[in-house]
Amino acid sequence: MSLLLTGIGELLTNDPSLGAGRVGRRHDAALLLDEGRVAWIGDTNAAPAADVSHDVGGRAVVPGFVDSHTHLVFGGDRADEFAARMAGEPYDGGGIASTVRATRAASDEDLLAAARVRRGELERSGVTWLEAKSGYGLSVDSEARLLRLSAEVADDVTFLGAHVVPEEYRARREEYVHLVCGEMLERAAGANWIDVFLDRGAFGVEEARTILSAGRAAGLGLRLHTNQLADLGGVRLAAELGVASADHLTHVSDEDLGLLADAGVVATLVPGAEFSTRSPYPDARRFLARGVTVALATDCNPGTSYLTSMTMVIALAVRECRMSVDDAVWSASAGGAVALQRRDVGHLGVGARADVVVLDAPRVTHLAYRPGASLVHALYRGGERRF
Ligand code: NIG
Ligand code: FE
Repeated sequence: MSLLLTGIGELLTNDPSLGAGRVGRRHDAALLLDEGRVAWIGDTNAAPAADVSHDVGGRAVVPGFVDSHTHLVFGGDRADEFAARMAGEPYDGGGIASTVRATRAASDEDLLAAARVRRGELERSGVTWLEAKSGYGLSVDSEARLLRLSAEVADDVTFLGAHVVPEEYRARREEYVHLVCGEMLERAAGANWIDVFLDRGAFGVEEARTILSAGRAAGLGLRLHTNQLADLGGVRLAAELGVASADHLTHVSDEDLGLLADAGVVATLVPGAEFSTRSPYPDARRFLARGVTVALATDCNPGTSYLTSMTMVIALAVRECRMSVDDAVWSASAGGAVALQRRDVGHLGVGARADVVVLDAPRVTHLAYRPGASLVHALYRGGERRF
């Protein structure tokens, strides 16, 4: 059944051939959705016939957001750790072990139910495509379990057995790296991606190179958490291996930005993590000026960013990372799609998946201008109205 949306006051298509600027902006637009895809875009007064027609009353419409970095499946929470941090304690990644304990102790049903609630919250904020990582299991069986559960709630799944060295391997880290590259990776065959936390207190450059190379040999795409807490040289490795995306990048040099741009590695910024660890925000303008493709993601996790709102991420990116509203909205949609190497989402060109967000606002600017407001009026996923 085809659906025609008319009366769109402002439409961002993210397709420069369809409108102004890199966001492909149009006004008084209409959008035809058919068979789960975008079938036509044009002016309201030139719209074709459709089975159902709906006038959105001058509201703004954007492509569904693509959240390319979440740790959606976990047990427990770390509210006390957050409170202590807000009272002055630093973040060092040490709390990951407590989430590993809570996750291992939780049942499949409880983990899935909680992850579905978070996915629902993300959807309410406009997210239509979502990546989720393992990384709170850190044993062969529990990582395999988290990958299986993640596949039930996410569209892209990433193996993060190399999140940190678990407590029981503290004195034997080489053995743990060997396990990740061997048995654990074998059980991760269904995942799309492999990721490593390369940072102070987690893994080093050589360990990350070993693990990512093993993942590549097993057919997984590569991603990297790096430069969140310290600069250990992770960006050079990201460029050398040509990972799809290097994520966090709180501390980067100008030379790093050149490496990312030249290697075509997406920089995924996660300002929720700076918010929740009270860290300095990366200046996205530096990245953009150097020609780096920037994605924005929630990094939803119980330690550094218990955030389930992409509209909040956009507001933070605009206010704190100094992005323009258009750049932030592009990065939260098209940028996330590039970070996941998908061409069918993150834009509204003809043939794209019909992932469409109708805002309860006449202008897209409201996403940053009215932080905290509930601005998603309706959401279509593959052409199906979700609310
Ligand atoms: O992306 N940085 C590493 N991993 C997570 C945080 C993990 C945690 O503290 O539970 C992140 O921020
Ligand atoms: Fe993360």
